[in-house]
Amino acid sequence: MFVMYERFSRASMNPYLVIESRIDKFVATGLYDRIGSWPELAARSPFIAQCRRTPGGFLPLEMIYDNRPVGDTLIQRLADRYYLNGALCRGARVRLRQATHWLRQQIEDRLSRQESASVLSLASGGARDVIDAVGGADWADRVRYLGVDLDPQAVTYAHHRALAAGLNGRFRFEMGNALRPPRAWENRFDIVTSLGLFDYLRDSTAVRLLDRIHALLRPGGALLFGMVTSNPNQRFFEDYLNWRMIYRSPEHILGLARASKFEQIRAVSNHDDYFFLVACQRL
Ligand SMILES: C[S@@+](CC[C@H](N)C(=O)[O-])C[C@H]1O[C@@H](n2cnc3c(N)ncnc32)[C@H](O)[C@@H]1O
Repeated sequence: MFVMYERFSRASMNPYLVIESRIDKFVATGLYDRIGSWPELAARSPFIAQCRRTPGGFLPLEMIYDNRPVGDTLIQRLADRYYLNGALCRGARVRLRQATHWLRQQIEDRLSRQESASVLSLASGGARDVIDAVGGADWADRVRYLGVDLDPQAVTYAHHRALAAGLNGRFRFEMGNALRPPRAWENRFDIVTSLGLFDYLRDSTAVRLLDRIHALLRPGGALLFGMVTSNPNQRFFEDYLNWRMIYRSPEHILGLARASKFEQIRAVSNHDDYFFLVACQRL
């Protein structure tokens, strides 16, 4: 799977780069999100084809993070560029940067106090946030990590990514249901992250999961979770990609966190970039 994806994402040619730089300038004008989605163009985009094959899966997210059009023809790469520049894709990249920054800070703070740094990702997918946060750090071998995902392909893929980033030994990935973490995991983790899972959960399930995560954390431990807030292309996502998420306002998301057992709640996102990140601490 990993090799296939690498082959899929080869570098582009020059005429493409010229047009790409114009598109990038256009995105910066803010008018981009008003153009809407064109099914004729979508049909040419390998990225969109992957979204349609596995909506909500880890591979579309990996392609969004790489932000690199793939495909053999100019039109395929242009179509990819168009959709990879879409509002939700940009928001997902902002979310990744914020999550990576938060994780690195949490881990460094704990290690500087000579505390343990045991990290759990629920619905880890490609585990990009934690691999980016820990890979290459001189304290990487002091971090213990477990990633849990329902999809066996995500588990294999993330395992290879972690090995490629030099994170062997203490990084483990398991297949499992993030909604039902075993009792044996209670009080075992210092940091939990979950991105791209809560977007699919009803309010009551989300609060129940927050309570379960509270029990997994040791006192003083922290959770980072994210939820999607809005999407200018929501109808395209739902009708063309069959990718359905629950959209909630930042206030609503904070309200769910407050309804859980967590004692301290803090917004990590400064403003609403289509996704909203919240940190919750167990005292
Ligand atoms: C949108 S991806 C997000 C992956 C990663 N967290 C990220 O932000 O890049 C969602 C992931 O959640 C996984 N997933 C969905 N429901 C799950 C569940 N109940 N337990 C574990 N993993 C789940 C999917 O297999 C997929 O890899």
